[in-house]
Amino acid sequence: MSVFETNPVFAEKQDLTTIVVFGASGDLAKKKTFPALFQLFKNNLLPKHTRVVGYARTVMEHQDFVKKASSFIKDSQEKIDEFFKICSYVNGSYSQSEDFVRLRLKIEQGEADMKTEKVFYTSEKDICGRIIKNKLRVYYMALPPSVFISVSEKIKENVYDANVINHLVIEKPFGLDRESCKYLIDNIGKNFTESEVFRTDHYLGKEMVKNIIVLRFANKFYESVWNKDHIDNIQITFKEPFGTEGRGGYFDQYGIIRDVVQNHLAQVLSILAMECPKSLDAEDIRDSKAEVLRHIPPVTLDETLLGQYVKSTDGTKPGYLDDETVSKDSNTPTYASMVMHVDTDRWRGVPFIIKAAKAVETAKVVVRIQFKDVSTNLFPNISRNELVIQISPKESIYLKTVVKEPGLSNKIIMSSLELEYRDVFTKNIIPDPYAALLLDVIGNDHSNFVREDELDEAWRIFTPLLNSIDQGKIKPLPYPYGSRGPEGGDKFNAKFGGYVPT
Ligand code: NDP
Ligand code: BG6
Repeated sequence: MSVFETNPVFAEKQDLTTIVVFGASGDLAKKKTFPALFQLFKNNLLPKHTRVVGYARTVMEHQDFVKKASSFIKDSQEKIDEFFKICSYVNGSYSQSEDFVRLRLKIEQGEADMKTEKVFYTSEKDICGRIIKNKLRVYYMALPPSVFISVSEKIKENVYDANVINHLVIEKPFGLDRESCKYLIDNIGKNFTESEVFRTDHYLGKEMVKNIIVLRFANKFYESVWNKDHIDNIQITFKEPFGTEGRGGYFDQYGIIRDVVQNHLAQVLSILAMECPKSLDAEDIRDSKAEVLRHIPPVTLDETLLGQYVKSTDGTKPGYLDDETVSKDSNTPTYASMVMHVDTDRWRGVPFIIKAAKAVETAKVVVRIQFKDVSTNLFPNISRNELVIQISPKESIYLKTVVKEPGLSNKIIMSSLELEYRDVFTKNIIPDPYAALLLDVIGNDHSNFVREDELDEAWRIFTPLLNSIDQGKIKPLPYPYGSRGPEGGDKFNAKFGGYVPT
C-alpha cells in the first residue's frame, strides 16, 4: 500500500471544500499546484466533496484551461478527465470587485451542487443554534507577490464568508527584505488572521526535511551527540545544474540568497539546530524553530563568497548576463556560500556552512553533519565521521563510518552505513511536497508552514548582507556554467573547518 492508501482520513472528511487557484494560467499552477491536486484526488485524499476553481486574467475556454492545467500531469486520460470534472475556470482581474463577486457566485454554485451530493447533510446549525463551519474555502495564491495584497483584500471584501473556514495559501517569496516582508504580513493580516494564513515553503513538505525531526528526537544516539562537543561543522548544500533561463526577470530582482537561502535552507537549518519542541503541535515546533533563529546573528560579508555564472567553457550554455531579461551590469549572485553561527549553548562555535548554487556541475540538496576529528592512541590518523542526509535527488541517509578493510591487512578505511529510501521503502510512494502541504492546508495543520515571527527572524539574518549586495559593495566572482562554482569555494569551506568530501 502507498503512503496515501494507508491514510484515508481526509477522503472521509465531510467538509464541502472549494480550492481556488489564483494565477491558474501560470507556471507554478501547471507545474506544481494542479499536479499536486491531481495526486491527492487520485489517491482519494481530497475531501469527498471538493471543487477546484482556477482563476486568472487570461481568457480561456474550459478545454484550454484543462489543457494547460493538465500539461504536467502524467496519468491515463480517463483519470485526468475524471479529475477535471470537479474543476472549473473563471477569468477575472486581481483588482476589480465585480470579478471577485463572479468568483464568489461560482464558489457558491459549487457548494450548492456539492450539497446535493451529501445525503446526510441536513442542518447548517448545531443544537444550540450555532452555525456549523463545515465548508472550507482554500485560496491558493500561485501569483506574483506584487498582487498578494490586492487579491487578499478583494477576497476579503467579496468572497470571504465568516461562516466558513477560510485558508489563504501564500507562496514565497514573502518580501524582498525585513521591511517589505513586514509590510506584506501587516497588510495581509488586515484581511486574514495568522491562523488562516499558510505560508508555503515547499522544502518543509519534502520527505527528508520532515524526517529530520524524527531522526533527531526519536533516536537516542543521534540526539546525544547533536551538539558542539561532538559536531565540528554542519554543511547545507543546494546545487542545481541549470541556470535561470526563462526566469531571469524574476531572479534578477531576487538573487540566490532570497530565492533559496533565506527560506528553504534557513528552514532546514532551523530544524537541524532547534531545541526539542515541547510537543509535535504546530505551535510548539514553530516556537522551537523561531527561537533558534533568534540566536543567529546577521550573516556578514566577510563570511560570504558570492558568484555569478558565465558561459560554459565549451560555449554551449549561456552566461547569466546573456539572458535578455537580466540587466547587463547585474550584480545578482547565482552562487552564495556563507557561514551562519548559532549562539546557543548547544551550538556555540560550530559553523553552519551554507552553499546555494545555480548552473553548477550537479543536482543535489544535501546536509552534512561532520563530527569532530578523533585521533586516538589506537588510531592516530582517522577520518572524521559524517552523517549525510540527502534531500534530493535520491532521498537517503548515510553514516560515514571507519571500518577495518576486509581481508588480511589491518588497514582501516572509511565506508558508509546507507539507507537509500527508494531501495528500502519500495512499497511507499514519496509524496510530492506540494501534495503533502496541500493536504496539511486542508487538514488545518500549520506545522509545515512558516509563521510570521520565523519569517521576520530569517529576514533579520540576511537583510544587512542583501543591502550590501544591492548597493554594489561586493561583486560576485565569475564561474563557468557547469563548473563547481567560483574559484575559492573549497578554500572557503576549508577555512571554517568543513572539508570537501570526495
Ligand atoms: P507566473 O509568472 O507564471 O505568474 C502566475 C500568473 O499570474 C500568470 O499566469 C499571470 O496570469 C499572472 N501574472 C503574471 N504576472 C503578473 C503581474 N505582473 N501582475 C498580475 N498578474 C500577473 O508565476 P509562477 O507561477 O512562476 O509563480 C507564482 C508564485 O509562486 C510566485 O510567488 C513565485 O515566486 C512562486 N513560486 C514559483 C515557483 C515555480 O516553480 N514557478 C516555485 C516556488 C515558488 P494571468 O495573466 O492569466 O492573470
Ligand atoms: C524554488 C526556487 O523555490 O525552489 C527555484 O525559486 C528552485 O529557483 C526551486 O529551483 C528548487 O526546488 P526543488 O524542489 O527543485 O529543490
